[in-house]
Amino acid sequence: MFTHNRWLIAAFYLAISISMPTETLAAEGPALGIELSADEVATADITVMPDGEGLPAGSGTAKAGTGVYVANCKACHGEKGTGGINDTLVGGHGSLTSDRPQKTIGSYWPYATTLFDYVRRAMPYQTPGSLANDDVYAVTAYLLYLNGIIKENKELNADTLAEVKMPNRDNFVWAYSP
Ligand code: HEC
Repeated sequence: MFTHNRWLIAAFYLAISISMPTETLAAEGPALGIELSADEVATADITVMPDGEGLPAGSGTAKAGTGVYVANCKACHGEKGTGGINDTLVGGHGSLTSDRPQKTIGSYWPYATTLFDYVRRAMPYQTPGSLANDDVYAVTAYLLYLNGIIKENKELNADTLAEVKMPNRDNFVWAYSP
């Protein structure tokens, strides 16, 4: 029965391909998906590499980020990045080698640029992509400041964010040579 069906399907496609010139088939394609506009591609093409490649224009400080955090993040991540219903974002420094390792941005993440990428792409959880780039820079600065990694008035932009060295960076090893 199965083999019989396969022959039927093959015969069907053979019939179509004989009845249509090849160019027509190629032009019509399998009708999967839709072609995206340049704008739509740009909206989805937001990867930021560890070295900062892909960071957009814009800037922000921890001071500006406090308001962004309170309005958009605090409900889930708690006052100052701890004690919320979702992931703890601050603290855990020096805990990774203890019996109770606490992985946070500050204690674990190797690159500050990833924080920008992640927040812009995925947060706030219920409305990802809703923050302006300046707000993402600002809330990134706020979280790095709360983790004791940068000063409160440090301005983060595409250059200065890429220069921030995360405390745990050197404890990662390459699984392969880059
Ligand atoms: C509605 C709740 C909610 C809100 C609001 C929210 N988050 Fe999250 N956040 C989550 C959840 C849930 C996760 C875990 C997601 C996962 O593991 O896939 C998470 C994970 C994260 C992480 C990764 C933590 C880690 O160490 O893995 C960061 C960073 C983060 N959020 C930042 C933010 C920032 C910044 C904002 C505000 C702009 C924000 N979140 C707003 C729910 C929320």
